[in-house]
Amino acid sequence: MLVAIPEILTRDEAARALSALRAAPWTDGRVTAGHQSAQVKQNLQIEEGTRLHQELGELVLNGLGRSPLFISAVLPQRVFPPLFNRYDPGMTFGAHVDNAIRQIRGTPHKIRTDVSCTLFLTPPEEYEGGELVVQDTYGEQRVKLPAGHAVVYPATSLHRVEPVTRGSRISAFFWIQSMVRDDTRRRLLFDLDVAINSATRDLPGGHEAPVALTGVYHNLLRQWAEVS
Ligand code: NI
Repeated sequence: MLVAIPEILTRDEAARALSALRAAPWTDGRVTAGHQSAQVKQNLQIEEGTRLHQELGELVLNGLGRSPLFISAVLPQRVFPPLFNRYDPGMTFGAHVDNAIRQIRGTPHKIRTDVSCTLFLTPPEEYEGGELVVQDTYGEQRVKLPAGHAVVYPATSLHRVEPVTRGSRISAFFWIQSMVRDDTRRRLLFDLDVAINSATRDLPGGHEAPVALTGVYHNLLRQWAEVS
């Protein structure tokens, strides 16, 4: 399941992050790639552990925390500190699946990557190419979103970034370990949550269906969630 999540960052926050990143030093993106993906990856990244990396990472994490849609779609247990990348003309990232386990730099902690997230920072009219292409159950999905908007998709998916042909595509990318590792189950819970929200909104007050459905939601979550 691929879900677009609008306005993780406001337009102002995205613009400020973008100008700070444009002024920052960039290094070869292959530093965080696995063996297979290093062969198809051609982009630039912000060095991890710098003050800028930490500040912008916190900005993104705060934005995620404000989004009920993100929480509902991902059911996050742990979020990898966001990384930032840039594709200049000619740069691309060929088809790959993200590494299953990621060590959080400078800590003993590892996360299992259940969900991948890309948060777009460059406004789409400022570059050409650079679409994120994800193999979904229903075929290929091509994603290019406004600045500050994010997309989440199962980390099990084969995906690529099309070559940029004009301008620079700058974005944040990271992974989430979900309380519900199985994508099919996460999707059922998400669909149920969406249905509960519309039933709550549209049915007259005092109707018992939203209460019953909310009970089902939590009882499924109790069956499926791993909490540590
Ligand atoms: Ni990837």
